[in-house]
Amino acid sequence: MGFNFAIMQTDFLVIGSGVAGLTYAIKIAKAYPEKKIIVITKTTADETNTKYAQGGVAGVWDANDSFEKHIEDTLIAGDGLCNEAIVEIVVHEGPERIREIIYYGAEFDKDETGEYTLGREGGHSENRILHHKDVTGKEIERALLKEIKKFSNIQFINYCFVVDIITQHHLGFLVTKSTTDITCYGVYVLNITNNQIEKILSPVTVLATGGCGQVYRTTTNPRIATGDGIAMVYRAKGKVENMEFIQFHPTALFEPGVSPSFLITEAVRGDGGILRNKNEEAFMQQYDERKDLAPRDIVARAIDNEMKRTGTEHVYLDCRHMNTEKFIHHFPNIYEKCLSIGIDVSKQMIPVAPAAHYSCGGIKTDEWARTSILNLYACGECSSTGLHGANRLASNSLLEAMVFGHRAYLNTIEKMNEFINKVITDVPDWNAEGTSEPKEMILITQSLKELQQIMSDYVGIVRNDVRLSRAMKRLDLLFAETEALYKSTKVSPQLCELRNLITVGYLIVKSAEFRKESRGLHYNTDHPHKSNLLQNIIL
Ligand code: FAD
Ligand code: SIN
Repeated sequence: MGFNFAIMQTDFLVIGSGVAGLTYAIKIAKAYPEKKIIVITKTTADETNTKYAQGGVAGVWDANDSFEKHIEDTLIAGDGLCNEAIVEIVVHEGPERIREIIYYGAEFDKDETGEYTLGREGGHSENRILHHKDVTGKEIERALLKEIKKFSNIQFINYCFVVDIITQHHLGFLVTKSTTDITCYGVYVLNITNNQIEKILSPVTVLATGGCGQVYRTTTNPRIATGDGIAMVYRAKGKVENMEFIQFHPTALFEPGVSPSFLITEAVRGDGGILRNKNEEAFMQQYDERKDLAPRDIVARAIDNEMKRTGTEHVYLDCRHMNTEKFIHHFPNIYEKCLSIGIDVSKQMIPVAPAAHYSCGGIKTDEWARTSILNLYACGECSSTGLHGANRLASNSLLEAMVFGHRAYLNTIEKMNEFINKVITDVPDWNAEGTSEPKEMILITQSLKELQQIMSDYVGIVRNDVRLSRAMKRLDLLFAETEALYKSTKVSPQLCELRNLITVGYLIVKSAEFRKESRGLHYNTDHPHKSNLLQNIIL
């Protein structure tokens, strides 16, 4: 889809059309009907991690539940590294944001009496997950995209790749990690209609670019999840934190050669699904008293151990004892998917294995979604707000994205006067581009495969010092080769994504090397215990 760059000056610039970006865009468009908002997406507007969310959105909804319990569950999962003030904010403000999305038209499942049916997932002490069958994210994305159509001051630019954020570095000033007033003026984007890098200027930019699961070989994340926002901020000398905490979902469908992996939501275990090893033994009670509903880090490590112990590439999720009618009612998508590959869940167990699923760390933000770069907000999975600490509680991320999309909006309207004073227009054209056409795409695709292999083999669920140092050495080589390619050839989305993923890989390995302990999702057999130092790794 083409677009006319002659008009590429806007009042608000939103990168990303998942739950975080759309929440912000809708609110700001409503507050300033006379101002212009641009929303940029890499592919189509609905191709986001958001669309694939299954289990649902956590929130205190039931009379038996309480803010205190949701806060406590989040803190326990986060294993000592959550920012308690942020946890309080998200849990307290969450239900209001959920009501808003219901107001926009999102439908969550109800029982015969008209009450919402609340699901249960690992680490939750109460049933508090609102869901739409097993396709909650699709329903949320649908409702948001429908709501956004009401605002004629929002312009979508799809199939547009943001390459870098523009700061004073591009105006010729020296910017280092210790520069305190790094300022964002907009972004350089790859215009796919003419293959040129152009600029879009804005006094306010919001990064809502999602996660980075594609840095691993096996992931539940769609192709767009390449950590672009995180890499851009790191390149711009902004702060990124806690990247060692990559969450592996315990139960992705085991289907060799299929990418991304199809998720079997944790809600299946919430409804009674049991994990079994190849000998059909239920094993979770040997690892944790909460059994199949222990927090994800514990379940994923237990599965990893069972797979290694029994020499298999997967374990099983047993749903044969569950009521088939109820299963089909709650999980129609999973039921159909399993049938399509010859598995009738009422008679056969589902082969499952862990897959990279969620980045708990990311661009460091404060309680108003502000990054360390002026005029730049970040919300959703690309951000690190302090909510998840060392391990995210299931279904807390859609909630976090809504809360901080809203908070970024509140802060924008409060600071509007400051932003308007910082508008600049004399930004130079992009000059970092190589000129030759890429000779062979295989140079890019092969490097991507190598990267995913390195990260999966050496920086997965269980780590040690030798594996991390090996990973770093191999990443150094990939980095050098890719930078050389980037400097000499014309920029393409594939090359930019590879470059961003290598940066993300580097950030994960570097943070993992710094953390000389095992905590939450980071488990290092050379440092198997927790240290007394409760610290975030900021790079
Ligand atoms: P996304 O929804 O991923 O959107 C990212 C956007 O950024 C896209 O529009 C993309 O085009 C754009 N973008 C990225 N880079 C660029 C670039 N360089 N240029 C232009 N545009 C760019 N969480 C829950 O709370 N509950 C669940 O049940 C749940 N289930 C999940 C199931 C699956 C299979 C997956 C993958 C995730 C699940 N999650 C769940 C996590 C949750 O879905 C995500 O964390 C959340 O949706 C992220 O939303 P977001 O708005 O931050 O980013
Ligand atoms: C799931 O449905 O199991 C995923 C929930 C999440 O990632 O929060």
